[in-house]
Amino acid sequence: MSYESQTPDQTSDRRGFFAAASAIVIGGFLAIVPTAAALAVFLNPLRKRAGEAKFVRVTTLDALPTDGTPREFPVIANRVDAWNRSREPVGAVYLRLPQGADKPDCLSATCPHAGCFVAFDGPSDEFKCPCHNSAFAVDGAIIPPSPSPRPMDSLACKVEGNDVLVKFEDFYTGRSDKVVKQ
Ligand code: FES
Repeated sequence: MSYESQTPDQTSDRRGFFAAASAIVIGGFLAIVPTAAALAVFLNPLRKRAGEAKFVRVTTLDALPTDGTPREFPVIANRVDAWNRSREPVGAVYLRLPQGADKPDCLSATCPHAGCFVAFDGPSDEFKCPCHNSAFAVDGAIIPPSPSPRPMDSLACKVEGNDVLVKFEDFYTGRSDKVVKQ
């Protein structure tokens, strides 16, 4: 059996190599973590909403028809990404003030079947989805035959002074139960 002895220069070279390799690995890791975090926030601007949904001001009480006709409103929420903070539409809701009520009912305008926006049809007093012909009553109930697996999604709503606020949430489509998207 024989052993090769190493000169001091060879030992020093090897230590230098490992030190350089370690610096590259650690440096790369430290660079990747914040970059990946920023990218995740940028690619998912609604990420902030994934937690507990907050009430968002949508309109004023006196903007609602008093005869019980639903009216559509956009929902504008904060968008926060790595570089900007801005407000932009994140969805739409229908508010309906039943005659004599002091607080409106709120339905998401997103069809539970596959996510198209439903439209309110005044003459028939129904919501109709243009994509696959689901139809819903003014309270959101399914009118058969409709491919939608569940009624329109109701949302929590409250009135503060003259302002109407909605707890806007996005739900999975294509399933019979109402599950908030994460
Ligand atoms: S998306 Fe509305 S019926 Fe299909």
